[in-house]
Order: sequence, then structure tokens, then C-alpha cells
Amino acid sequence: MKELYAVIGDPIAQSMSPAMHNDLFQLYKINAHYHALRVESVNLADAVKGLKAVGISGFNVTIPHKVAIMPLLDEVDPLAKSIGAVNTVKNENGRLIGYNTDGSGYLKGLYADLPSPGNKKTLIIGAGGAARAIYFTMAHEGVKSIDIANRTPEKAETLRLECPYEVETEVLSLNQAEENLGDYDLIIQTTSIGMAPALESEPLKLHNLKSDAFVSDIIYNPLQTKFLRHAAEKGAKTQNGLNMFVYQGALAFEKWTGIFPDVERMKQTVMKQLGGSIC
Ligand code: ATR
Repeated sequence: MKELYAVIGDPIAQSMSPAMHNDLFQLYKINAHYHALRVESVNLADAVKGLKAVGISGFNVTIPHKVAIMPLLDEVDPLAKSIGAVNTVKNENGRLIGYNTDGSGYLKGLYADLPSPGNKKTLIIGAGGAARAIYFTMAHEGVKSIDIANRTPEKAETLRLECPYEVETEVLSLNQAEENLGDYDLIIQTTSIGMAPALESEPLKLHNLKSDAFVSDIIYNPLQTKFLRHAAEKGAKTQNGLNMFVYQGALAFEKWTGIFPDVERMKQTVMKQLGGSIC
């Protein structure tokens, strides 16, 4: 019988995860199928019980369930617990264990493009769920100093205070970050600013950007935000959010199957799905 995998969320119709994982199951000759399942928030507890009852092998969790799912699982791994969100669940001998591969996927995808990650003065823009996963994971991996700029600096301060791993952090307003941008070698844009359809917005101006900085934006629709375009025009190396999406999926696939998959092929699958409608 085919093994069962899924992604649960609401909405879910646009998810690119089924195409990505089903292609990998075929590639590695694994007799499994990955479904997109729309689960409304009121039904989340019943859905998790049902998935466990039918013996699902693993599933991804997306908006709006990444936080709400935590108490419904048998166990949550410590990093996911500190991030406060689960995006990957594995059925281990009948017990559903929650993980977070968003931050680790981001970092693996970043390091794939960043030649020498050590000693980079780093700025994260944003203090929402994605920023939290990236900031905590970077601190967990031993990055020594990471500053955070946010429209609401209090939220960045909360992230700083709640981080259970040792890291030096200064909190900045977006204006302060704009002024001091020349201090940073690595800038990570984690807000939704610039995502389709609001293509003309950007979180801050890049006048003071160092020309040898590396600028990463977790948005992949569009593939090049206005922010990234301006960074590239200033001579910076840039990276869009495709790596984070693909690597979080690759790490989930590895947790489920023990195989770290072909990420270039995964990127191609996603690009095909994005088709002509990347805006
Ligand atoms: P996610 O979970 O995807 O990270 P989120 O938790 O809603 O999303 O966080 C969104 C982030 O984008 C926050 O840092 C938010 O800033 P605030 O904390 O001040 O709300 C930021 N953000 C969203 N829209 C913004 C805008 N128009 N200008 C500035 N920051 C914005």
C-alpha cells in the first residue's frame, strides 16, 4: 500500500509542496503519495486525530496551523518548541512528533549561496513568525551577533528577550536600520513587504548599503522583489526565497525518508509550478 503524506493548511490550493514531494517520491522510487488537504481551524484537532488514525507517515503544516498544532502532537522537538511553531510532523512508531525546518531550511539554503558565512555582521528585517524561526535557528547554530529591525521595535525586543540561545542583538527601528545599513554584511528581509500583488513596496531604502553586502529576501513571488532589485543595482549579491522554500521541504523529506533530496530538481519543479504567473 502507498504510504501517505500531506500538507495541511487553509487555504491550500496554491501549495507547491505536493508537486515537489511527489516528484521526489517518483525519483527515489518510494511508493508514497503527498496530498494537499484543506483543514479549517475549527477542524484541526479532528484532522490530526484522523491523520494519526489512518497511519499517515508524515505531514507539513502551513498557515494558519503552525502554532495551533503544537499541543495536538505527541511530542515537539526542542528547537520547534522554542520557535513556537511546527511545520513538519513525522509519525514515529505511531507517535506524531513535530519539528520546525523553516529556520534550518533557511540557513542551509543561505549557506548554499553564501561563500563564507563566518563573521558576517547580520541584520534581520522583521519580527514575525518567519523572523523568529530564522533568528532562533541562527542563534542555535552559534551565530554570535544578529541585529533586528522592525516597524514595531517592541516586537523585535520580545524576540531578543525570548531567544533561549546565546546571541548579541541590538534592536533598531526601520529608520535606524536604513541609516546604519552600511554596518551590515548580511541583510535578511523576512517581512511580507514586496510580495505580490504589492510589488512596489519595500521595507527600507538601500542608500547606505555596502556594495559587497549579501541581501536575502524570503519572498519568492515575485522571484525578485523591488528590495532585491535595488540591492542588486547597488552591486550586492542577492538571494530570493526559493532556497528557503525548497530547503525546508528538503529537510522535511530527509526527516521522513532518510534521503537528502536533489534540491536543484526541487527548484525546477517549483519554477515549473510558478509558470508564467510568478507575479
Ligand atoms: P510571518 O509569520 O509571515 O513572519 P507576521 O507574523 O504577520 O508574518 O509578521 C509580519 C512582519 O512583517 C512583521 O515584522 C511586521 O511588522 P510589525 O511587527 O510592525 O507588524 C512586518 N510588516 C508587515 N507589513 C508591514 C508594513 N507595511 N510595513 C512595515 N512592516 C511590515
